Amino acid sequence: MTEPLRSIERRFPGVPTLEGAGVRLRRSFSNNEIPLFDPFLLLDRFGSTNPEDYLAGFPWHPHRGIETVTYVLDGRVEHGDTLGNSGVIGSGDVQWMNSGSGIIHQEMPQRSEGGMSGFQLWVNLPAREKMSIPAYRGLSAGEIPEVSTDTGNRVKVVAGNFERVEGPVRGISVDPTYLDVRVPPGGEFELPTAPGYTVFSHTIDGSGTFAGADSAPVAPGETALFGAGGAVRVRASDAGHRFLLVSGRPLHEPVAWYGPIVMNTQSELRSAVRELQSGEFIKHQRPILEE
Ligand code: FE2
Repeated sequence: MTEPLRSIERRFPGVPTLEGAGVRLRRSFSNNEIPLFDPFLLLDRFGSTNPEDYLAGFPWHPHRGIETVTYVLDGRVEHGDTLGNSGVIGSGDVQWMNSGSGIIHQEMPQRSEGGMSGFQLWVNLPAREKMSIPAYRGLSAGEIPEVSTDTGNRVKVVAGNFERVEGPVRGISVDPTYLDVRVPPGGEFELPTAPGYTVFSHTIDGSGTFAGADSAPVAPGETALFGAGGAVRVRASDAGHRFLLVSGRPLHEPVAWYGPIVMNTQSELRSAVRELQSGEFIKHQRPILEE
């Protein structure tokens, strides 16, 4: 028996939000949406041609208990962290950072002629990994495979699989899929999705119509959360359709959230704040590079 196609269950237009030291972005979902997107916690879309909207950046701040995934579409983000990593996330690059027990980092968008745009996704860590050793993956655009299909689709595979091509981000508990999909005008795209997994899309450009009961086209900036099923199918409009497609295995664990720190209990949050105040927050400081 074939699994039914997933239908859009809810849509999120994105809420204008001021974050960091004064970065204007659009927040697709966050703590108000718990547990709808489990194991994902937050999706921010930043994008502007006005440097005043992004230059203030995200100066030194802590994280614990989550992974932050930064995908830069256009522009440059300078970064540095307490693991000793520093560098630039440029156009098409991905930084997949596991804060584990604690990291302090900064993320500073640089002035860019063509504007600055990209995403940050927060992926929750299972309780047993929240105090794990922090780890950092910096992937340049060239390290992210792009699959071209005979129907004209182009799919960048950051994590998970598409047509037997595996993305470079591996070994993550919630088994994430993270694709950047381009479907040509009038074209069709389909992806099998694991039953029980959470699946959402975020439209970057153009529009498309997903299979299922909600057949209104999705618009740029719109996040669509899908209901149960075994696959997602979309037909692009005459303008084509570029979108992120993300899935992961839900954790079904309690969430205690305080700004950039996400744990399971209030007591763990209190410990984190106490450790920040006493200077005991960072447990691992030596550089740890994966792959
Ligand atoms: Fe951060």
